Amino acid sequence: MLGIESSCDDTSAAVIQNGYILSNKIADQQVHRQYGGVVPELASRAHQQNIVPVVSAALKEAGIKVDDIQAISYTRGPGLMGALLVGSSFAKGMSLALNVPLIEVNHLHAHILSLFIARPGDQKDFPSFPFICLLVSGGHTQLVIMKSHLELEIIGQTIDDAAGEAFDKCAKLMGLPYPGGPMIDKYARSGNPMAFRFSRARVNGLDFSFSGLKTSFLYFLRDRMRSDPEFVTGNRNDLCASIQHAIVESLTRKLSEASQMTGIKQIAVAGGVSANSGLRESVTDLGRALGWNVFFPEVDYTTDNAAMIAVTGYYKFISSWFSDHHVVPAARYDRL
Ligand code: KG4
Ligand code: ZN
Repeated sequence: MLGIESSCDDTSAAVIQNGYILSNKIADQQVHRQYGGVVPELASRAHQQNIVPVVSAALKEAGIKVDDIQAISYTRGPGLMGALLVGSSFAKGMSLALNVPLIEVNHLHAHILSLFIARPGDQKDFPSFPFICLLVSGGHTQLVIMKSHLELEIIGQTIDDAAGEAFDKCAKLMGLPYPGGPMIDKYARSGNPMAFRFSRARVNGLDFSFSGLKTSFLYFLRDRMRSDPEFVTGNRNDLCASIQHAIVESLTRKLSEASQMTGIKQIAVAGGVSANSGLRESVTDLGRALGWNVFFPEVDYTTDNAAMIAVTGYYKFISSWFSDHHVVPAARYDRL
């Protein structure tokens, strides 16, 4: 099966055979860097340029020909409409041309199933069901109970910004390039997480909120820079470590509550922010203390990629869960 991902600013194609990933090619889009964020129209154009070479490269690396493809899975949503249209139109065209079934995939579902990506010969432990997944990406932050590969229940989510957005916006306030999450992670390693304290939101239940943290960071920087214009450059590592600590603490507090409330001790983290070394360390430590079995995707599969689309497509394929060619992409999309 060929998997295609084009929901945001990465064009990606992957090949999966009997549940094992044979190739995963990603073309990222440098064009957005100068704007400090993803420009939707430029993303669609770059997807159009990248899609054919990326699919060809994925087939080549997998050692298969176009005619060997038996099914095609693609991201239906959520994401940027213009970006989704490129991948979905390509997938539909190819499925018609080859006369093979088409499978639509929810991008968030795929981030969670990135935990099940394996290459031929890999000996990996997968989470057993039910497990709780903390899904943290640039656009979403959710707590999900996975009951099977194809059944999930959302038990908490952000009421404003996503965790990745909080990382990126705070990075931008410090003058770091987009996406700022990986930069904060890098500088935080040499900083003191207790150097500065920023206000944490108190939200009921298992929901999250990050917009207050961003505002408190904005005012804090503004005040300090009034008396010391070099404040950010002089304290970059400590600022990064402290803001990362605040975000990670908010995430892990709700994750612990979710485990306590449900009694589930199989715990996973997925999505772009699951690459964060502070979050990984903190969840691993908590897991040791609380008797959890903890799972993360391999770092290469945390941010957007087609391997996770292909693996999700594979589980839908073996359940004969196909979609028809009239299905249109959806910028907001909460079904599987
Ligand atoms: O899952 P993803 O690739 O795209 C969405 O579906 O949104 O996630 C991208 C997000 C960005 O906000 C990026 O800053 C964040 O993941 N991210 C990180 C790290 N690597 C990626 N945030 C913190 N630490 C990292 N190491
Ligand atoms: Zn994503």
